[in-house]
Amino acid sequence: MNTLTVHPAKRLLPLLLLAGLGWLPAAGQTSPVPNPQLASRELNARVEALLKKMTLDEKVGQLAQYVVGAGAGPGDSSLSYEEMVAKGLVGSLTGVNDAEAANHYQHIAVEKSRLHIPILFARDVIHGHRTTFPVPLALAASWDPGAAETVARFGATEARADGLAWVFSPMVDIARDPRWGRIVESAGEDPYLGSAMARAWVKGYQQDDLSRPDSVAVSVKHFAAYGAAIAGRDYNAVDMSEITLRQVYLEPYRAAVEAGAATLMSSFNSINGVPGSANPFTLTQVLRKEWGFDGFVVSDWDAVGELRDHSIGADDDTVARKALEAGVDMEMKGSLYGTVIAPQVRAGKIPESVVDEAARRILRVKFALGLFDHPYTAEGPKYEATPERRAAARKVAGETFVLLKNDPVEGVGALLPLPAKAKKVALIGPLADNQREMLGAWAVAGDPKYVITLRQALAERLGDRLLYARGCELLSGEDAKMLRKIDPHDQTDSDARLPIPDDARSIAEAVETAKKADVAILALGEETIWMEGEAASRVHLGFTGAQEQLLEAVVATGKPVILVVLAGRPLELKWAANHVSAILEAWSPGIEAGHAVADAIFGDVNPSGKLPSSFPRAVGQEPLYYAQLPTGRPAHGDLSHVPLNREERFMSRYMDEENSALFPFGWGLSYTRFSYAQPTISRTEVPVQEVLAPGHNPVVTVGVDVRNTGSVAGTEVVQLYIRNTVASVEQPVRELKGFARVTLAPGEQKHVEFPLGFDELNFYNVEVKRTVEPTTYKIWVGGSSLATAETSLQVE
Ligand code: BGC
Repeated sequence: MNTLTVHPAKRLLPLLLLAGLGWLPAAGQTSPVPNPQLASRELNARVEALLKKMTLDEKVGQLAQYVVGAGAGPGDSSLSYEEMVAKGLVGSLTGVNDAEAANHYQHIAVEKSRLHIPILFARDVIHGHRTTFPVPLALAASWDPGAAETVARFGATEARADGLAWVFSPMVDIARDPRWGRIVESAGEDPYLGSAMARAWVKGYQQDDLSRPDSVAVSVKHFAAYGAAIAGRDYNAVDMSEITLRQVYLEPYRAAVEAGAATLMSSFNSINGVPGSANPFTLTQVLRKEWGFDGFVVSDWDAVGELRDHSIGADDDTVARKALEAGVDMEMKGSLYGTVIAPQVRAGKIPESVVDEAARRILRVKFALGLFDHPYTAEGPKYEATPERRAAARKVAGETFVLLKNDPVEGVGALLPLPAKAKKVALIGPLADNQREMLGAWAVAGDPKYVITLRQALAERLGDRLLYARGCELLSGEDAKMLRKIDPHDQTDSDARLPIPDDARSIAEAVETAKKADVAILALGEETIWMEGEAASRVHLGFTGAQEQLLEAVVATGKPVILVVLAGRPLELKWAANHVSAILEAWSPGIEAGHAVADAIFGDVNPSGKLPSSFPRAVGQEPLYYAQLPTGRPAHGDLSHVPLNREERFMSRYMDEENSALFPFGWGLSYTRFSYAQPTISRTEVPVQEVLAPGHNPVVTVGVDVRNTGSVAGTEVVQLYIRNTVASVEQPVRELKGFARVTLAPGEQKHVEFPLGFDELNFYNVEVKRTVEPTTYKIWVGGSSLATAETSLQVE
């Protein structure tokens, strides 16, 4: 029998470093860990030598990032960017999208500016660069940090080839409310899974060695707690206890910083009344003093200027000063830093040492990236979606699909996987043959022309046994018109000048198509350009446009229906879950969308994804997440599919809907079945002092045997949850504290072990200090947050 031990993430590196420095942290507390990438003596000597030569204007220049091609120019716009760069007044540029353009500015910076300081070029590389992979929420559904690392590697290599050494990625904001459109860029609702993904992104982009020619510096965003915008409305205020902030929301940023993140991006939102882009608590106290971060912080787009609207300063001088002094080293877009900082230093309102420190942090990253030694980018061959890139995109996408439901149909059995000899298949839906939509939100350098749609992929397999109908448009009414305006090629396969097709007629055609087939595959979801990503909050979480009507009409034909959901957020799938027997959540899968979805439909790939985010029964449940705090009136069924007892009143429950998720966190089926034995624990009791001992080593190991009891091979994500049953501060009813992807042949069994120690068992007490108290931990192991196989640990 095989044994798989899950190593508690990222425990060793900081300890080795600290041991090297000769001391270890006091019980329970974390201590700053220097980033070896930025801490070398030689690198810092070069930075200091350069800083000494710089004028105030040159130093301030390093703090400014401008947008090539954007309307608003720097300062009073009297100079071109070329002139600004030649004068050494530009630290970074975005909006430069290929090697040729980057070299154009870099030659000026390096050859014409007085001190030859290279420009740091940046762009949003979110889920791949030229090669578009599944969206980040989908990648989290793989529960495979290696998948995120692969995507980051491809992204980094392709970005570097375009002259970009800095990416505005990863987004590690915890997102517990799918009304917020940016949930698509997140790893979902959970800090443990989110931290694992955050580390993987950083490792993939930076490779623990920024100087490698195919490494890029990350910008971990959006610091902090941007995902907790009230009511899911983008840019809205965030208001939460410091305990929740630290225990849930800050965790993935901390993981990213510990993994060596070179830069962070400060957020648009306020946090308990203080904007994230002028927040001394998050930017200086937590980030630098507690975590020892020695990279630099860039503001989000114009977030410094927006401080005026946050009403924390009436004029440019004040808001720019507040941002800089709080710890925002570089301003993205806008030009406040470039215009109002230097005069304030000259007037004695800002100490020059503040500017020096910000410039120092930025220069450190530039040196670490090797930009001073290798400033230019080889202008190589044009990008191509090579077989290697396609194979990676297809493999990664295959790991992200979540089989939500696959109930047997009378007389037919489970619809999925579909037999290769399937007779006539009707493929229906506005996402069945839409290249652009498969890229998903934030695919800035992605090109729809590389996308294989589901229609193409199914045609390769089925030939003339495939029937197709578009069924309806993705958006209707005013939304459809807006989409036409911003992206004329997206909405229709045909000519954008034609009128938007009539949904009622398209639905009727689709019904006729379904009637001619033996099974219908519906590819439905959410429009991604107008309805997903930044500034795309929604209060209705159904399919966009007339897709729900289309689904209902096709289901009414009585033909067996397989629903493939393509969307970047949890949608409300209640009607579908009640009426469709097979549902595959496929997110926005990237350029190999069609092939990857077809692989899953025909069973060449057995779905293994698990939800990183709870799917609601109704929007009114949001924010809905499994790791809720207990109440004094716990209702039954919060974490199970047990229907609410209608007679139960005066409990923490809804009167018109169940509390539980429709599909809970961690949920995902397979074409095989897995069974879990009773978990074991290496010791049932441990003294609290042992858990608190310096070094934070694991104190117990939980083991479980997992068996594939079905007839095909499959991969299970084994999940471990704990509940701290009695503590001085309420603890969540369940918390994920370990997971492992385990591949099993039919009949095969593996033993999986999860170490637990301080890192998994701690919480923040009323003094907002991480600690462990005597208590009993309930521990569950299983295939979702509903896991029932249970053991426990007594901490005395
Ligand atoms: C977004 C960031 C992004 C930046 C640059 C902002 O609007 O919030 O996530 O990195 O734009 O494109």
